[in-house]
Amino acid sequence: MSPIDLSQSSLEQKVSLLSGRDFWSTRPIHDVGVPSVVLTDGPHGIRRQVAGFDHIGLGESLPATCFPPAVAVGSSWDPAVAEQVGAAVGREGRALGVQVALGPGVNIKRSPLCGRNFEYYSEDPLLSGVLGAAHVRGQQGEGVGASVKHFAANNQETDRMRVSADVDERTLREVYLPAFERIVTEAAPATVMCSYNRVNGVFASENRWLLTEVLRDEWGFGGAVVSDWGAVDDPVAALRAGLDLEMPGPSEANVRRVVDALRAGELDEAVVDAAVRRVVALTDLVPTEEPGDFDVDAHHALARELAAQCAVPLKNDGEVLPFADGTRIAVLGEFATTPRYQGGGSSHLTPTRVDTALDAIRALAAGRDCTVETARDPAAAVEVARTADVAVVFAGLGEREESEGFDRDTLDLPAAQVELIRTVAAAAPRTVVVLSNGGIVSLEGWHDDVDAVLEGFLLGQAGGGAIADLLFGVANPSGHLAETIPLRLQDTPSYVNFPGEQGHVRYGEGVMVGYRWHQTVGTPVRYPFGHGLSYTTFATSDLAVEATGDDTARVTVTVTNTGERAGRHVVQVYVATTAGPVRRPARELRAFTKVALEPGEVRTVTLDLDRRAFAYYDVPDAGWVVAPGEYVVQVGQDAATVVAEAGLPLTGDVVVRELTLESTVAEWSAHPVVGPTLLEEIAADLPGDGAPDPDVLRMVESMPMGKVAGMLAGPALDATLQRLIQRSRAAATS
Ligand code: BGC
Repeated sequence: MSPIDLSQSSLEQKVSLLSGRDFWSTRPIHDVGVPSVVLTDGPHGIRRQVAGFDHIGLGESLPATCFPPAVAVGSSWDPAVAEQVGAAVGREGRALGVQVALGPGVNIKRSPLCGRNFEYYSEDPLLSGVLGAAHVRGQQGEGVGASVKHFAANNQETDRMRVSADVDERTLREVYLPAFERIVTEAAPATVMCSYNRVNGVFASENRWLLTEVLRDEWGFGGAVVSDWGAVDDPVAALRAGLDLEMPGPSEANVRRVVDALRAGELDEAVVDAAVRRVVALTDLVPTEEPGDFDVDAHHALARELAAQCAVPLKNDGEVLPFADGTRIAVLGEFATTPRYQGGGSSHLTPTRVDTALDAIRALAAGRDCTVETARDPAAAVEVARTADVAVVFAGLGEREESEGFDRDTLDLPAAQVELIRTVAAAAPRTVVVLSNGGIVSLEGWHDDVDAVLEGFLLGQAGGGAIADLLFGVANPSGHLAETIPLRLQDTPSYVNFPGEQGHVRYGEGVMVGYRWHQTVGTPVRYPFGHGLSYTTFATSDLAVEATGDDTARVTVTVTNTGERAGRHVVQVYVATTAGPVRRPARELRAFTKVALEPGEVRTVTLDLDRRAFAYYDVPDAGWVVAPGEYVVQVGQDAATVVAEAGLPLTGDVVVRELTLESTVAEWSAHPVVGPTLLEEIAADLPGDGAPDPDVLRMVESMPMGKVAGMLAGPALDATLQRLIQRSRAAATS
């Protein structure tokens, strides 16, 4: 904590610290040595504006390296990649005078249509959380604070400043909050940014349950909560809820409102003091020495190396990739020369330079006796394709098709691009499609016409070089999908509830997000979550799952590189169960690791599964519960393909609840304390011989006990039930 003394400062001075000085910095109080703190975007590069401020990506910013955005890093499945991006962003932030770089974004990709999916990692909370924590560690390790965003349930751009995300608590806890939770508890980010939207009717910026009860009291967050830019509606309610810093500023009217509320006794000064302390603590990030430069060339080279670990080879029939020496290559499509490598909106930065795929392909072709032809228009493209050995079509989404600020309404590629792919594929002996898009696109209508598809997503400023490295096999691709590619938009779980209506978006699919839905329902998909090819092959063997104590387990599995090239393999561990009183997804990713293996190399890897890997969130019990029962630990090649599995019975938690007359007969029978002797205890109070007919029992199982008792018997049964209720209460509270 900073030694700054604010005891002599006026209320106005203190409150003024709680909103920005301008678009990108906090207010200083020079007399007492409170410096200004610069916060700026983020997440995959620094967007440092020195004039013409805006938060929608319009104005110029100082040149900085554009590293692979989160959509690409998500596909790396590698925390080392995320950490290196974070660290490099941290170094550049320091050099550019930034103390907090606004990222990473860890919202879950609920719908493939979300316009900002390029800035988020995955449809899976574990993958998002592990990568986000690594980014924060890397960035903060360089002395630049992180701002994990957008907290919470900001999974669409449509109406994002008003809409209420209506999400049940189990779904929040199991799907939308765990990435934030992991990052907060493991990586201690300097700040958390609250989102614009409402969560269950209350603005995130005013949501005390979210900002205080969950974030601080349960997870122990000690940093500052910053508003998304313009997310504060009522500054007094926001402070009460746990918000610390309103951005941007200045907001004299809000300072006034807070001071008035303090003077009127409507707001406790202790609340303001706590927020001030947290904002002032951010000033510890202000360096004492002058910033140095960053190494532009080294960072560009790093961006290229990392990007190559992110692209996902979806299809590679007949090993058309990598190109053999002497291949005649036709390079087609606008993105080969005008690359799409970052998303639109607040993260849109000015790169230090940009690689085009065409230049990089030419550079690598020269040393390999390959020839490169290209064409300006679609008609010429078909001619060039005909005379080549392989045509490579660069396709994807333009900035007009996707951005922060709006959602897409289709998964389709623009029709002209589909047309180009199809006509080229019909003419060329072999066709490779390289895709650049921030959100996934449909492959239908052309997938089967082409030999290979390399999904590059958005790879940052060195993406062109990385793609060339992958096409020629200078690098072996190792990306895997962090989100499902469906066959049809209609098959996606949020289809009928996205993006909502009349101010509400109902998360009707509950926990069944992404592959959890597809695997549970059995919908066929084009490529499942976790899918990704390599230029080598891997074998998985010797799976062993060992219980390690209190409903935890250790998974050991052997991986062999059975091919001819060095490569990286992702071990994906899922858990499947039907245990417990709630509907469980068919399987859920619970651990993963990426291993680099030389040809022929064999490695045994160990992954630990903690209790949470088996737990569901029990709403009545307000906590995580491991249901007693059978679990299956599965190693998946992807979410749809299990390559090895082992059963694991778990003792689990015995949840003892208090019974009431509203509890059903089934709940009474299943009660761990009362259930075993229930029939015996009530036999004497029942009509007839006291032995209920099993068919009758079946019929009354779902009826509240009080109703059944009222119909069946008299005061004797009522008294017995009251005695049993007492017993259940004693057990529940013991
Ligand atoms: C975005 C944030 C961003 C902020 C500042 C907002 O519109 O939602 O992600 O950090 O602007 O640019």
